[in-house]
Amino acid sequence: MANNNRIFVGTFAESTSLTNFSVKIGYISVLNGKITQKGFIDEFEQLEKSGVLSDYEIIKLSKDQFLIPGFVDCHTHAPQFPNIGLGLDRPLLEWLAKYTFPLEKKYQDTEFAAKVYDQVVQRLLKNGTTTACYFGSLHMEGTLELVKSAINHQQRALVGKVSMNKINEAGYYNDTEKELKEVETFVQTVIALKNDLVEPVVTPRFALSCDKILMDGLSKIANKYNCRIQSHLSENLQEIEYVLETNDNCKCYGDVYDKSGILNNRCIMAHAVHLTDDELKLLPSRGVSVAHCPASNTRLKSGLCPVRRLLNASITVGLGTDVSGGDNATILDAIRRSMDVSTYLELQGQPNSALDWKEAFYLATLGGAEALNLDDKIGNFEVGKDFDALLVDVYAKGGQIEKYKDTLETTNEEYASDLLQRFVFLGDDRNIVQVYVKGVKVKDNL
Ligand code: GUN
Ligand code: FE
Repeated sequence: MANNNRIFVGTFAESTSLTNFSVKIGYISVLNGKITQKGFIDEFEQLEKSGVLSDYEIIKLSKDQFLIPGFVDCHTHAPQFPNIGLGLDRPLLEWLAKYTFPLEKKYQDTEFAAKVYDQVVQRLLKNGTTTACYFGSLHMEGTLELVKSAINHQQRALVGKVSMNKINEAGYYNDTEKELKEVETFVQTVIALKNDLVEPVVTPRFALSCDKILMDGLSKIANKYNCRIQSHLSENLQEIEYVLETNDNCKCYGDVYDKSGILNNRCIMAHAVHLTDDELKLLPSRGVSVAHCPASNTRLKSGLCPVRRLLNASITVGLGTDVSGGDNATILDAIRRSMDVSTYLELQGQPNSALDWKEAFYLATLGGAEALNLDDKIGNFEVGKDFDALLVDVYAKGGQIEKYKDTLETTNEEYASDLLQRFVFLGDDRNIVQVYVKGVKVKDNL
Protein backbone atom coordinates (compact mmCIF):
# COMPACT_ATOMS: atom_id res chain seq x y z
CA MET A 1 0.00 0.00 0.00
CA ALA A 2 1.47 3.29 -1.07
CA ASN A 3 0.80 5.10 2.17
CA ASN A 4 2.73 2.51 4.22
CA ASN A 5 0.00 2.29 6.85
CA ARG A 6 -0.07 -1.21 8.17
CA ILE A 7 -1.40 -3.36 10.96
CA PHE A 8 0.52 -6.44 11.95
CA VAL A 9 -1.44 -9.12 13.73
CA GLY A 10 0.40 -11.94 15.45
CA THR A 11 3.37 -12.43 17.74
CA PHE A 12 5.85 -9.74 18.63
CA ALA A 13 8.85 -9.94 20.93
CA GLU A 14 10.84 -7.08 22.41
CA SER A 15 13.00 -6.00 25.32
CA THR A 16 12.13 -3.14 27.63
CA SER A 17 15.42 -3.45 29.55
CA LEU A 18 18.33 -5.87 29.97
CA THR A 19 16.24 -8.04 32.26
CA ASN A 20 12.80 -7.41 30.85
CA PHE A 21 11.79 -9.31 27.77
CA SER A 22 8.29 -9.90 26.50
CA VAL A 23 6.51 -11.98 23.90
CA LYS A 24 2.94 -10.98 23.15
CA ILE A 25 0.28 -11.99 20.73
CA GLY A 26 -1.71 -9.04 19.50
CA TYR A 27 -1.45 -6.22 17.00
CA ILE A 28 0.76 -3.25 16.18
CA SER A 29 -0.44 -0.44 13.96
CA VAL A 30 1.96 1.70 11.97
CA LEU A 31 1.05 5.09 10.58
CA ASN A 32 3.51 7.34 8.71
CA GLY A 33 6.43 5.25 9.91
CA LYS A 34 5.50 5.38 13.58
CA ILE A 35 3.95 2.88 15.94
CA THR A 36 0.60 4.38 16.80
CA GLN A 37 -1.17 1.60 18.66
CA LYS A 38 -0.59 -1.77 20.25
CA GLY A 39 -3.07 -4.15 21.75
CA PHE A 40 -4.54 -7.59 22.12
CA ILE A 41 -6.14 -9.68 19.41
CA ASP A 42 -9.70 -9.06 20.60
CA GLU A 43 -9.10 -5.31 20.40
CA PHE A 44 -7.91 -5.73 16.83
CA GLU A 45 -11.03 -7.74 15.99
CA GLN A 46 -13.18 -4.89 17.30
CA LEU A 47 -11.27 -2.36 15.18
CA GLU A 48 -11.64 -4.60 12.16
CA LYS A 49 -15.40 -4.87 12.68
CA SER A 50 -15.83 -1.14 13.17
CA GLY A 51 -14.43 -0.50 9.67
CA VAL A 52 -11.81 2.07 10.73
CA LEU A 53 -9.01 0.04 9.18
CA SER A 54 -9.88 0.52 5.52
CA ASP A 55 -6.80 2.68 5.02
CA TYR A 56 -4.47 0.01 6.35
CA GLU A 57 -2.79 -3.02 4.87
CA ILE A 58 -3.45 -5.82 7.32
CA ILE A 59 -0.67 -8.38 7.70
CA LYS A 60 -1.66 -11.49 9.59
CA LEU A 61 1.35 -13.49 10.73
CA SER A 62 1.30 -17.26 10.83
CA LYS A 63 1.96 -19.16 14.04
CA ASP A 64 5.60 -19.63 12.99
CA GLN A 65 6.21 -15.97 12.26
CA PHE A 66 6.89 -13.05 14.57
CA LEU A 67 8.06 -9.45 14.61
CA ILE A 68 11.14 -8.24 16.43
CA PRO A 69 12.75 -4.79 16.51
CA GLY A 70 15.39 -4.17 13.82
CA PHE A 71 18.97 -4.98 14.75
CA VAL A 72 21.38 -2.20 15.69
CA ASP A 73 25.05 -2.51 14.73
CA CYS A 74 26.85 -0.01 16.94
CA HIS A 75 30.23 -0.37 15.29
CA THR A 76 31.32 -1.39 11.82
CA HIS A 77 33.79 -0.19 9.19
CA ALA A 78 32.10 0.05 5.80
CA PRO A 79 35.33 0.42 3.78
CA GLN A 80 36.76 -2.76 5.28
CA PHE A 81 34.09 -5.07 3.82
CA PRO A 82 36.28 -6.16 0.88
CA ASN A 83 38.69 -7.58 3.50
CA ILE A 84 36.07 -9.63 5.38
CA GLY A 85 37.51 -12.98 6.42
CA LEU A 86 41.03 -12.03 5.33
CA GLY A 87 44.23 -11.22 7.15
CA LEU A 88 43.19 -12.22 10.63
CA ASP A 89 46.56 -13.76 11.34
CA ARG A 90 48.03 -10.65 12.94
CA PRO A 91 47.34 -8.72 16.12
CA LEU A 92 45.58 -5.35 15.90
CA LEU A 93 48.43 -2.94 15.14
CA GLU A 94 50.08 -5.17 12.54
CA TRP A 95 46.70 -5.97 11.01
CA LEU A 96 45.92 -2.24 10.70
CA ALA A 97 49.28 -1.49 9.06
CA LYS A 98 49.40 -4.49 6.74
CA TYR A 99 45.79 -5.01 5.65
CA THR A 100 43.48 -2.25 6.79
CA PHE A 101 45.16 1.08 6.08
CA PRO A 102 46.23 0.02 2.55
CA LEU A 103 42.63 -1.00 1.74
CA GLU A 104 41.05 2.10 3.25
CA LYS A 105 43.45 4.30 1.28
CA LYS A 106 41.75 3.12 -1.91
CA TYR A 107 38.61 5.07 -1.02
CA GLN A 108 40.10 8.24 -2.36
CA ASP A 109 38.56 6.77 -5.51
CA THR A 110 35.01 7.96 -4.92
CA GLU A 111 33.55 5.70 -7.60
CA PHE A 112 35.05 2.66 -5.93
CA ALA A 113 33.67 3.89 -2.60
CA ALA A 114 30.18 4.29 -4.04
CA LYS A 115 30.18 0.74 -5.39
CA VAL A 116 31.40 -0.89 -2.19
CA TYR A 117 29.11 1.12 0.07
CA ASP A 118 26.04 0.34 -1.97
CA GLN A 119 26.78 -3.35 -1.51
CA VAL A 120 27.51 -2.95 2.20
CA VAL A 121 24.26 -1.17 3.00
CA GLN A 122 22.17 -3.68 1.07
CA ARG A 123 23.91 -6.62 2.67
CA LEU A 124 23.31 -5.29 6.16
CA LEU A 125 19.63 -4.53 5.51
CA LYS A 126 19.12 -8.02 4.13
CA ASN A 127 20.50 -9.36 7.40
CA GLY A 128 18.22 -7.21 9.52
CA THR A 129 20.58 -4.38 10.49
CA THR A 130 18.14 -1.50 10.31
CA THR A 131 20.53 0.86 12.09
CA ALA A 132 24.30 0.98 11.66
CA CYS A 133 26.91 3.20 13.20
CA TYR A 134 29.63 3.32 10.56
CA PHE A 135 33.24 4.29 10.33
CA GLY A 136 33.91 5.49 6.79
CA SER A 137 37.44 6.25 5.62
CA LEU A 138 39.69 9.29 5.81
CA HIS A 139 38.08 10.63 2.63
CA MET A 140 35.24 13.11 2.79
CA GLU A 141 33.84 12.53 -0.69
CA GLY A 142 34.06 8.76 -0.34
CA THR A 143 32.34 8.81 3.03
CA LEU A 144 29.56 11.00 1.66
CA GLU A 145 28.90 8.10 -0.74
CA LEU A 146 28.16 5.96 2.30
CA VAL A 147 25.65 8.56 3.47
CA LYS A 148 24.05 8.49 0.02
CA SER A 149 23.82 4.69 -0.02
CA ALA A 150 22.13 4.64 3.39
CA ILE A 151 19.59 7.22 2.20
CA ASN A 152 19.02 5.46 -1.14
CA HIS A 153 18.36 2.12 0.50
CA GLN A 154 16.54 3.54 3.54
CA GLN A 155 18.91 2.43 6.28
CA ARG A 156 19.18 4.37 9.53
CA ALA A 157 22.84 5.29 9.70
CA LEU A 158 25.28 7.24 11.81
CA VAL A 159 28.26 7.91 9.59
CA GLY A 160 31.74 9.10 10.48
CA LYS A 161 34.51 10.40 8.29
CA VAL A 162 37.56 8.88 9.96
CA SER A 163 40.12 11.30 11.37
CA MET A 164 43.86 10.54 11.53
CA ASN A 165 46.85 12.87 11.54
CA LYS A 166 49.69 10.71 12.85
CA ILE A 167 52.24 9.46 10.33
CA ASN A 168 52.03 5.77 9.41
CA GLU A 169 53.75 3.48 6.95
CA ALA A 170 50.83 3.40 4.54
CA GLY A 171 50.82 7.21 4.30
CA TYR A 172 47.19 7.11 5.35
CA TYR A 173 46.65 10.31 7.34
CA ASN A 174 45.81 13.96 6.85
CA ASP A 175 47.37 17.27 7.69
CA THR A 176 45.70 18.56 10.89
CA GLU A 177 44.22 21.74 9.49
CA LYS A 178 42.91 20.05 6.37
CA GLU A 179 41.45 17.28 8.49
CA LEU A 180 39.53 19.62 10.80
CA LYS A 181 38.22 21.59 7.84
CA GLU A 182 37.03 18.44 6.09
CA VAL A 183 35.36 17.06 9.19
CA GLU A 184 33.45 20.29 9.67
CA THR A 185 32.41 20.33 6.01
CA PHE A 186 31.36 16.68 6.27
CA VAL A 187 29.25 17.38 9.35
CA GLN A 188 27.66 20.45 7.77
CA THR A 189 26.94 18.58 4.54
CA VAL A 190 25.19 15.68 6.27
CA ILE A 191 23.18 17.99 8.53
CA ALA A 192 22.15 20.08 5.50
CA LEU A 193 20.60 16.99 3.90
CA LYS A 194 17.93 17.16 6.63
CA ASN A 195 17.35 13.45 6.27
CA ASP A 196 15.94 11.98 9.45
CA LEU A 197 17.67 8.62 8.94
CA VAL A 198 21.27 9.78 8.73
CA GLU A 199 23.50 11.70 11.10
CA PRO A 200 27.19 12.59 11.05
CA VAL A 201 29.51 11.22 13.73
CA VAL A 202 32.81 12.82 14.68
CA THR A 203 35.29 9.93 14.41
CA PRO A 204 38.83 10.15 15.76
CA ARG A 205 40.11 6.70 14.73
CA PHE A 206 41.88 6.00 18.04
CA ALA A 207 44.43 7.56 20.34
CA LEU A 208 47.35 6.24 18.28
CA SER A 209 46.26 7.97 15.08
CA CYS A 210 45.23 11.39 16.40
CA ASP A 211 47.36 13.87 18.33
CA LYS A 212 46.02 16.17 21.04
CA ILE A 213 45.59 19.14 18.71
CA LEU A 214 43.41 17.13 16.34
CA MET A 215 41.48 15.53 19.19
CA ASP A 216 40.79 18.94 20.79
CA GLY A 217 39.63 20.29 17.44
CA LEU A 218 37.32 17.33 16.84
CA SER A 219 35.85 17.73 20.31
CA LYS A 220 35.09 21.37 19.51
CA ILE A 221 33.36 20.46 16.25
CA ALA A 222 31.28 17.79 17.99
CA ASN A 223 30.18 20.31 20.61
CA LYS A 224 29.45 23.02 18.07
CA TYR A 225 27.09 20.79 16.08
CA ASN A 226 25.91 18.65 19.01
CA CYS A 227 27.27 15.63 17.13
CA ARG A 228 27.87 12.12 18.26
CA ILE A 229 31.44 10.89 18.65
CA GLN A 230 32.87 7.43 18.12
CA SER A 231 36.28 5.88 18.56
CA HIS A 232 38.13 2.79 19.81
CA LEU A 233 39.16 2.27 23.42
CA SER A 234 41.37 -0.30 25.19
CA GLU A 235 41.07 -2.98 22.57
CA ASN A 236 44.52 -4.57 22.69
CA LEU A 237 47.27 -4.68 25.34
CA GLN A 238 50.05 -3.50 23.04
CA GLU A 239 47.85 -0.63 21.86
CA ILE A 240 47.25 0.42 25.47
CA GLU A 241 50.99 0.26 26.23
CA TYR A 242 51.80 2.59 23.30
CA VAL A 243 48.99 4.96 24.22
CA LEU A 244 50.30 5.28 27.78
CA GLU A 245 53.92 5.62 26.55
CA THR A 246 52.98 8.49 24.26
CA ASN A 247 50.71 10.19 26.81
CA ASP A 248 52.72 10.06 30.02
CA ASN A 249 50.46 12.60 31.70
CA CYS A 250 47.52 10.17 31.45
CA LYS A 251 46.93 7.43 33.98
CA CYS A 252 44.71 5.37 31.69
CA TYR A 253 43.72 5.18 28.02
CA GLY A 254 40.33 6.80 28.68
CA ASP A 255 42.13 9.80 30.16
CA VAL A 256 43.60 10.64 26.75
CA TYR A 257 40.10 11.12 25.33
CA ASP A 258 38.81 12.77 28.49
CA LYS A 259 41.54 15.43 28.39
CA SER A 260 40.17 16.51 24.98
CA GLY A 261 36.55 16.50 26.12
CA ILE A 262 35.70 13.56 23.88
CA LEU A 263 33.95 11.59 26.62
CA ASN A 264 30.33 12.64 26.98
CA ASN A 265 26.84 11.23 26.63
CA ARG A 266 26.99 11.48 22.83
CA CYS A 267 30.06 9.27 22.71
CA ILE A 268 30.32 5.56 21.93
CA MET A 269 33.59 3.65 22.30
CA ALA A 270 34.23 0.33 20.60
CA HIS A 271 35.76 -2.67 22.41
CA ALA A 272 36.67 -1.56 25.97
CA VAL A 273 38.15 -5.03 26.54
CA HIS A 274 40.81 -4.08 29.08
CA LEU A 275 39.31 -1.27 31.16
CA THR A 276 40.93 -0.35 34.48
CA ASP A 277 38.81 0.16 37.58
CA ASP A 278 39.21 3.92 37.08
CA GLU A 279 37.88 3.65 33.52
CA LEU A 280 34.97 1.56 34.73
CA LYS A 281 33.98 4.58 36.80
CA LEU A 282 35.01 7.24 34.28
CA LEU A 283 32.88 5.99 31.37
CA PRO A 284 29.50 5.91 33.14
CA SER A 285 30.28 9.18 34.94
CA ARG A 286 30.63 10.83 31.51
CA GLY A 287 27.69 8.92 29.99
CA VAL A 288 29.89 7.09 27.47
CA SER A 289 28.53 3.85 26.06
CA VAL A 290 30.35 0.84 24.64
CA ALA A 291 30.02 -1.13 21.41
CA HIS A 292 30.89 -4.70 22.33
CA CYS A 293 32.57 -6.43 19.37
CA PRO A 294 33.05 -10.06 20.35
CA ALA A 295 33.95 -11.43 16.89
CA SER A 296 36.73 -8.95 16.32
CA ASN A 297 38.04 -9.28 19.88
CA THR A 298 38.57 -13.00 19.41
CA ARG A 299 39.66 -12.98 15.73
CA LEU A 300 42.37 -10.39 16.37
CA LYS A 301 43.13 -12.08 19.72
CA SER A 302 42.54 -8.79 21.49
CA GLY A 303 40.88 -10.40 24.52
CA LEU A 304 37.59 -11.52 26.02
CA CYS A 305 35.57 -8.44 26.90
CA PRO A 306 33.98 -8.82 30.35
CA VAL A 307 30.58 -7.48 29.29
CA ARG A 308 28.92 -8.36 32.58
CA ARG A 309 31.48 -6.20 34.37
CA LEU A 310 30.64 -3.30 32.08
CA LEU A 311 26.91 -3.78 32.58
CA ASN A 312 27.36 -4.05 36.36
CA ALA A 313 29.28 -0.77 36.25
CA SER A 314 26.16 0.84 34.68
CA ILE A 315 27.74 1.24 31.26
CA THR A 316 25.25 1.12 28.39
CA VAL A 317 26.32 -1.58 25.94
CA GLY A 318 25.30 -2.42 22.37
CA LEU A 319 26.74 -4.89 19.88
CA GLY A 320 29.13 -4.20 17.02
CA THR A 321 30.27 -6.46 14.21
CA ASP A 322 33.49 -4.45 13.69
CA VAL A 323 34.04 -5.68 10.17
CA SER A 324 36.70 -6.56 9.11
CA GLY A 325 38.40 -7.16 12.46
CA GLY A 326 35.17 -9.07 12.93
CA ASP A 327 34.69 -11.81 10.34
CA ASN A 328 30.90 -11.63 10.18
CA ALA A 329 28.76 -8.66 9.26
CA THR A 330 25.56 -9.84 10.91
CA ILE A 331 24.14 -8.99 14.32
CA LEU A 332 22.79 -12.52 14.69
CA ASP A 333 26.42 -13.63 14.72
CA ALA A 334 27.35 -10.89 17.21
CA ILE A 335 24.53 -12.09 19.48
CA ARG A 336 25.94 -15.62 19.46
CA ARG A 337 29.54 -14.52 19.88
CA SER A 338 28.56 -12.30 22.84
CA MET A 339 27.01 -15.33 24.52
CA ASP A 340 30.08 -17.46 23.76
CA VAL A 341 32.69 -14.96 24.94
CA SER A 342 30.83 -14.20 28.16
CA THR A 343 30.43 -17.93 28.77
CA TYR A 344 34.18 -18.53 28.37
CA LEU A 345 34.77 -15.94 31.09
CA GLU A 346 32.37 -17.76 33.37
CA LEU A 347 34.09 -21.06 32.60
CA GLN A 348 37.40 -19.42 33.46
CA GLY A 349 36.08 -18.62 36.92
CA GLN A 350 34.28 -15.27 36.66
CA PRO A 351 30.90 -16.09 38.20
CA ASN A 352 27.68 -14.92 36.52
CA SER A 353 29.53 -13.65 33.46
CA ALA A 354 27.52 -15.53 30.85
CA LEU A 355 24.83 -13.63 28.97
CA ASP A 356 21.69 -15.58 28.20
CA TRP A 357 19.95 -15.30 24.83
CA LYS A 358 17.40 -12.76 26.04
CA GLU A 359 20.15 -10.48 27.35
CA ALA A 360 22.06 -10.82 24.09
CA PHE A 361 18.83 -10.03 22.20
CA TYR A 362 18.48 -6.87 24.31
CA LEU A 363 22.06 -5.82 23.42
CA ALA A 364 21.25 -6.32 19.73
CA THR A 365 18.11 -4.17 19.83
CA LEU A 366 17.26 -1.81 22.69
CA GLY A 367 20.78 -1.89 24.16
CA GLY A 368 22.19 -0.74 20.83
CA ALA A 369 19.54 1.96 20.55
CA GLU A 370 20.39 3.19 24.06
CA ALA A 371 24.12 3.07 23.36
CA LEU A 372 23.58 5.29 20.30
CA ASN A 373 21.13 7.55 22.14
CA LEU A 374 18.43 6.59 19.68
CA ASP A 375 16.14 4.86 22.18
CA ASP A 376 13.62 7.69 21.95
CA LYS A 377 13.11 6.55 18.32
CA ILE A 378 13.98 2.85 18.04
CA GLY A 379 14.96 -0.32 19.94
CA ASN A 380 11.54 -1.79 20.67
CA PHE A 381 7.85 -1.44 19.82
CA GLU A 382 6.89 1.30 22.24
CA VAL A 383 4.01 3.40 20.92
CA GLY A 384 5.42 6.62 19.45
CA LYS A 385 8.68 5.08 18.25
CA ASP A 386 9.58 4.57 14.59
CA PHE A 387 8.68 1.17 13.18
CA ASP A 388 12.05 -0.49 12.53
CA ALA A 389 11.25 -4.18 12.49
CA LEU A 390 12.05 -7.64 11.20
CA LEU A 391 9.41 -10.13 10.22
CA VAL A 392 10.88 -13.52 11.00
CA ASP A 393 9.65 -16.83 9.65
CA VAL A 394 11.39 -19.53 11.62
CA TYR A 395 10.66 -22.29 9.15
CA ALA A 396 11.17 -20.17 6.03
CA LYS A 397 11.67 -22.15 2.85
CA GLY A 398 15.34 -22.82 2.20
CA GLY A 399 16.31 -21.91 5.77
CA GLN A 400 18.20 -24.26 8.02
CA ILE A 401 15.74 -24.56 10.88
CA GLU A 402 13.70 -27.70 10.44
CA LYS A 403 10.29 -28.32 11.76
CA TYR A 404 9.82 -31.54 13.68
CA LYS A 405 6.65 -32.80 15.17
CA ASP A 406 5.78 -30.63 18.17
CA THR A 407 6.94 -32.44 21.26
CA LEU A 408 6.11 -29.94 23.99
CA GLU A 409 2.74 -28.86 25.27
CA THR A 410 3.06 -25.08 25.37
CA THR A 411 0.93 -21.99 25.58
CA ASN A 412 0.95 -19.79 22.49
CA GLU A 413 3.37 -17.36 24.18
CA GLU A 414 5.73 -20.17 25.18
CA TYR A 415 5.61 -21.54 21.65
CA ALA A 416 6.48 -18.09 20.30
CA SER A 417 9.31 -17.61 22.76
CA ASP A 418 10.74 -21.01 21.77
CA LEU A 419 10.59 -19.96 18.13
CA LEU A 420 12.50 -16.77 18.84
CA GLN A 421 15.06 -18.72 20.83
CA ARG A 422 15.58 -21.02 17.84
CA PHE A 423 16.00 -18.06 15.51
CA VAL A 424 18.54 -16.46 17.85
CA PHE A 425 20.64 -19.63 17.96
CA LEU A 426 20.14 -20.96 14.43
CA GLY A 427 18.54 -18.42 12.15
CA ASP A 428 20.00 -16.44 9.29
CA ASP A 429 18.93 -13.95 6.62
CA ARG A 430 16.68 -16.55 5.02
CA ASN A 431 14.46 -16.40 8.08
CA ILE A 432 14.29 -12.59 7.96
CA VAL A 433 11.54 -12.41 5.37
CA GLN A 434 10.70 -8.73 5.67
CA VAL A 435 12.60 -5.72 6.95
CA TYR A 436 11.08 -2.33 7.77
CA VAL A 437 12.84 0.93 8.48
CA LYS A 438 10.66 3.78 9.68
CA GLY A 439 7.64 1.94 8.32
CA VAL A 440 9.12 1.48 4.85
CA LYS A 441 9.53 -2.09 3.63
CA VAL A 442 13.15 -2.50 2.54
CA LYS A 443 13.19 -6.28 2.14
CA ASP A 444 10.34 -8.51 1.08
CA ASN A 445 10.75 -12.25 0.74
CA LEU A 446 7.40 -13.12 2.23
N1 GUN B 1 41.59 0.55 16.11
C1 GUN B 1 41.86 1.56 15.26
N2 GUN B 1 41.36 1.33 14.03
C2 GUN B 1 40.73 0.15 14.10
C3 GUN B 1 40.00 -0.64 13.16
O1 GUN B 1 39.82 -0.30 12.00
N3 GUN B 1 39.51 -1.81 13.61
C4 GUN B 1 39.67 -2.24 14.90
N4 GUN B 1 39.16 -3.40 15.28
N5 GUN B 1 40.36 -1.53 15.79
C5 GUN B 1 40.89 -0.35 15.40
FE1 FE C 1 36.56 -0.95 14.87
